[in-house]
Amino acid sequence: MNDESLQNTSEQAITPEKLNYLKELTQHYYNIDSLAKYMDVYRISKNDPEDFWNTIAERNFEWRKKWDSVLKWNPKKAEVTWFEGAQLNITENAIDRHLETRGNKTAIIWEPNDPEEKTLYISYNELSKRVNKMANVLKKNGIKKGDRVCIYLPMIPELAIATLACARIGAVHSVVFAGFSALALSSRINDSECKMLITADGSYRGSKSINLKGIVDEAMGDTPSIECVLVVKQTSSDIEMVKDRDIWLHDELNQVDDKCEAEVMDAEDTLFILYTSGSTGTPKGMVHTTAGYMVYTAFSFKNVFQYQENDVYWCTADIGWITGHSYIVYGPLLNGATTLMFEGVPSYPDYGRFWEIVEKHKVNQFYTAPTAIRALAKQDVEFVDKHDISSLKVLGTVGEPINEEAWNWYYENIGKRKCPIVDTWWQTETGGIMISPIPFVTPTKPTFATLPLPGIQPSLMDDKGEELKGNSVSGKLCIKHPWPSMARTVYGNHQRYIDTYFSAFENLYFTGDGALRDEVGYYRITGRVDDVIIVSGHNLGTAPIEDAINEHPAVAESAIVGFAHKVKGNALAGFVILKNEGESRDKQNLSKEINQLISSKIGPIAKLDRIHFVSGLPKTRSGKIMRRIMRKISSNEGDQIGDISTLLDPDIVEEIKEKVQPFL
Ligand code: WTA
Repeated sequence: MNDESLQNTSEQAITPEKLNYLKELTQHYYNIDSLAKYMDVYRISKNDPEDFWNTIAERNFEWRKKWDSVLKWNPKKAEVTWFEGAQLNITENAIDRHLETRGNKTAIIWEPNDPEEKTLYISYNELSKRVNKMANVLKKNGIKKGDRVCIYLPMIPELAIATLACARIGAVHSVVFAGFSALALSSRINDSECKMLITADGSYRGSKSINLKGIVDEAMGDTPSIECVLVVKQTSSDIEMVKDRDIWLHDELNQVDDKCEAEVMDAEDTLFILYTSGSTGTPKGMVHTTAGYMVYTAFSFKNVFQYQENDVYWCTADIGWITGHSYIVYGPLLNGATTLMFEGVPSYPDYGRFWEIVEKHKVNQFYTAPTAIRALAKQDVEFVDKHDISSLKVLGTVGEPINEEAWNWYYENIGKRKCPIVDTWWQTETGGIMISPIPFVTPTKPTFATLPLPGIQPSLMDDKGEELKGNSVSGKLCIKHPWPSMARTVYGNHQRYIDTYFSAFENLYFTGDGALRDEVGYYRITGRVDDVIIVSGHNLGTAPIEDAINEHPAVAESAIVGFAHKVKGNALAGFVILKNEGESRDKQNLSKEINQLISSKIGPIAKLDRIHFVSGLPKTRSGKIMRRIMRKISSNEGDQIGDISTLLDPDIVEEIKEKVQPFL
C-alpha cells in the first residue's frame, strides 16, 4: 500500500502473461473491489498511462470517432491533449446512451428549499427532453458551437439542464456561483465575453429570498458582450424585464421541439470555463475540454463512491463550484446514476434538514464539506438521531483539510462506524478527484486523503526543487504525469497557466498545496502554501480582497490573513492602515463600510471577521508584506513568529499583538 512499494513494483518488468491478466482487470475498473486489485490497476496505470487510459476510454464510452493519439504532452509549453482526433458529445454519454435501459430511472431528484414544497423526480427520458428543448432555445437565440454562455442560477433543475444544453450544442458554459456579487459576475462575463446569460427572477436560501435578477441588472450595466438574458421563473417576484434583452425561459420553451441533434465535438473542444481565485490578480478562468474530462470524472465517480445501480447519491455542493460540475452533474450522469440536487441550506427549517433528506430519499452516498460537518457537529445530536439514516453506505468530504474532531463526529454519528469516509483531495484545476480512499478497499485514516487514484502520480518537493523520496516526508504537492481531466489553460492567458502551475518545478504540475506522506505512503493535505485562503471551503485570494478594501476612501493600505475558525476552517482578519482623514472616524462604522465594500465587490463569503486598524504592516526591507507574522499572531501563536530583525520596522509587531489580543 505504500508509495515506495508501488513505485518499486511498477518498475519491475511485467511479463506478457501478467500484462494480459492486468488488462482484463482494467476492463472491470468499474469495480476496484479489493486492495490487491487497486494495487494492480495502479501499477499498470503508472507503468503505461497511455495504454491504461486507452483501455478505459475505449471500453466504457460512446465515441463518434476514435482517437489518433492518446496523449500529447509538451511540458515546456504546458500543452496537453488527450484522445486527439476523437469525436463525441458528452451528453450522448451522460443521457442518450442510458435511454434504452434506464429511460424511466430517476436521473435527478430535486429537493426544494421549503420541505413543504414538491420534490421533483426527473427521469432520464424527461431529462433528455428538457435538455434538448433548452438546447433548442439556446440555438433559437443565436447561440452556436464555441459561444460562451454564462449561467447564474440557484440550485434548481434548470441549472443542471442549462449546463447540459450548452454541452449538447457545443456552447461553452461558464457557471458563476449565484452567491457572487454583481461585480464578480460582470467581471467573469467580460473575461470570457459571454454572449448569453441564463438566470432566474430570484432564489430561496433558507428563510431568505434573494433578488437575483436585481443583481443581474446591476451587472448588465457593464457587459457589452451579452446579447440576451434568459430568465427562469422561480420565485415569481416582481422584476423588470428589459426590452430586447430579457426573455422568459418558459415562453421560449413553448416554441421549440424536444429533439436537438447533438453537436459533434472534437476531444479537445472546450466543454466549460470555471473561475477560481488565484493568489494574485483577477480570478482565473480554468478551461476544461471534452473527452478527457468525461473519461476521468466518470471513472473517478464510480470508484470513489462505489455507486451501484439502484443507489441514490447526494453531493451537497453547489453546481457553481467544480464539485458540483464533476460530481452532481457529469460524473453521476455519465454512470447512469440517480443524483440528488438540494436547493436549500443545512440549517433550514432546522439543523436536521440534511438527515431528513437522507431519510426521505434513502440516500446511499453522501458527499459534503468539512465546514458543513463542523457546523452540524455543533448542534444537538438529536437532530441526527431523530432520523433513520441507515441507508448510508459511503460518506465523502471535500474542499479543505478535515480536522480529526470533525472526522470522528462524521464517522460516529453519521456513519455509525460502518461507513467509510472518503476524504477526497482535488481542485478546480484537476477536474476530478485525485487522492482519495476507495471505500471498502483502502483502509481509512482520519485527516488523510490516503492514496492516489489510478493514473495519478503525486510527488512531494522540497524548497530547493528536489523530490522527496521515500515515506515520512512533507513538502509541496506536485503531480508528475498528465491526467485526462486536467485544465488545459487559463482562458485567454496561457502564460498565467504556465506561471501558476508549471514554473515552480520543472516538468511538474504544482498544486499550491502542502502535504505529507506518512510511514505507509498515505497522503495528508496540510493546506495552501500560497496566498489563497480557504474560508468555509471557498477559495479566496488575498489580493482581490485587499484591492476592494483599498478602494475605501479612508484606507491607505491593507493586508488580510486567515486564522483558524471552529466552523469555517479559516476566517479572515484584515489589517488596515488609515489615511489621516480616516483616523477621526468611528471605527465600528468604518468596519461596516469596509465589509459592505467587500460584499459588493466580491460577495458576502469574503467578509472579514476581524478588522484591526494599525499604523503600519510588517514588511521586509524590500517592501514585501510578511503575512505569516500577522497569521501567527491572529491564530494565537504570537510566540512562534521567529526572527523579525529583517523587518523594516520591527516595533510594528508589538502594536499588532496588542490590537489582536482582545480577539483571542
Ligand atoms: C483544498 C475543490 C484538504 C486544497 C474540489 C485545494 C482540500 C483546494 C481537500 C481546491 C481535501 C480540496 N483535503 N484540502 N480533501 N479538497 N482541498 O478549487 O487546498 O475549490 O488546493 O476545488 O481546496 O479548491 P477548489
